[in-house]
Amino acid sequence: METFDAIVLGAGGAGLMAAGVAGQRGRRVVVLDHADAPGKKILISGGGRCNFTNLHTAPDRYLSANPHFAKSALGRYTARDFLAMVERHGIAWHEKTLGQLFCDRSAREIVDMLLGECELGGVTIRLGAALGEIGHADGRFTVRHGDRHYAAPSLVIATGGPSIPKMGATGIAYDIARRFGLKVVEPRPALVPLTLPGDEALFRALSGVATPVVARAGKVAFAEAALFTHRGLSGPAILQVSSYWRHGDPVTIDFTPDVMPGWLVAAKRARPRATLTQTLDLPARLAEVLAARLAIGELGATSDRALIEAERRLSDWRFEPNGSEGFAKAEVTVGGIATAALSSKTMEARSVPGLYAIGEAVDVTGWLGGYNFQWAWASGWAAGQAM
Ligand code: FDA
Repeated sequence: METFDAIVLGAGGAGLMAAGVAGQRGRRVVVLDHADAPGKKILISGGGRCNFTNLHTAPDRYLSANPHFAKSALGRYTARDFLAMVERHGIAWHEKTLGQLFCDRSAREIVDMLLGECELGGVTIRLGAALGEIGHADGRFTVRHGDRHYAAPSLVIATGGPSIPKMGATGIAYDIARRFGLKVVEPRPALVPLTLPGDEALFRALSGVATPVVARAGKVAFAEAALFTHRGLSGPAILQVSSYWRHGDPVTIDFTPDVMPGWLVAAKRARPRATLTQTLDLPARLAEVLAARLAIGELGATSDRALIEAERRLSDWRFEPNGSEGFAKAEVTVGGIATAALSSKTMEARSVPGLYAIGEAVDVTGWLGGYNFQWAWASGWAAGQAM
């Protein structure tokens, strides 16, 4: 049995951050993972350049059963704090759009930075073996990892959520939480493409076509690009609304977000011989499909009333997804370990002293655009200060 001050389960962004911070505070920390390399999701994130934070990070850009929970950690470890670490390590970065910060070169630099911080803290990292029994007695946690055994007064659940199982993602965080009597908010795939039923086959012909839209589901709206796929809808605007979407809900798309009311009637007066397809400022194939659906050809041959109705439909096109592409394609998981049982300041379970949960394992899920990593860093930092 090897003894430490803290055992961190999961060598992803949250676990490495927590381990580095605690290690540099003088704690003896071991990180255990079944993967053969640390930070695999960091490496594939942001198209290999890791969208590592967002300058507009704010609690209202996160979903959680308790929307206030993330405030404390996000407020105490901010995007600027993480950026300061990135700069300290000489990592070149740029803002792409909407406050999203990416590495200029490679996501590998973020993993190397976190490993460097762990090394500074003397953290032990053990990879490539399955987690076995987890015990708890007399204020001490014990964990089997392969054929080694570890003991510590603190145990950190940082094993993420089940999105992208082929990368080794599992729902083990929820099993461990339940074993200690913590509740789990039903996990759902989020930031995920949505699928359309067969009668929307016309749109399948558009696979690969992308255009800026405003997409809406329930009360939320996102102005970004939507992309048609052979199975349905994707692109940033759709991924964003997917986190809020529930089975049976419609998703509406405004294909003409930048026009003034009455624009089609005005277009008819200016160019009566033009067709709707020619008039729509959209990719040609998409314009053709929408015009065919609306059964409108030449504007001059169409009544003003029909054009006003077409305007309305183009700005509020209703899709009824029949599902999503699931955890296999989801960037993150909505839901997870219920925050009610955790301290928002330290991430420690109130009923089980020494047990912490951080990162995606917890019921806090960010928007697309660097928000999820910022949660991993902030929650990891909070636990690292406390354990
Ligand atoms: P994470 O999943 O990173 O780490 C969990 C660790 O636990 C892994 O190392 C895993 O191997 C280990 N583990 C799991 N089950 C285990 C078990 N049973 N036994 C032992 N170990 C186990 N976010 C963002 O902000 N910007 C971005 O650019 C992107 N891009 C992106 C792209 C893609 C393709 C995906 C899938 C996700 C993103 N994300 C993202 C989301 C981001 O990757 C995610 O929110 C964080 O990685 C979560 O960090 P955690 O450390 O909580 O979990």
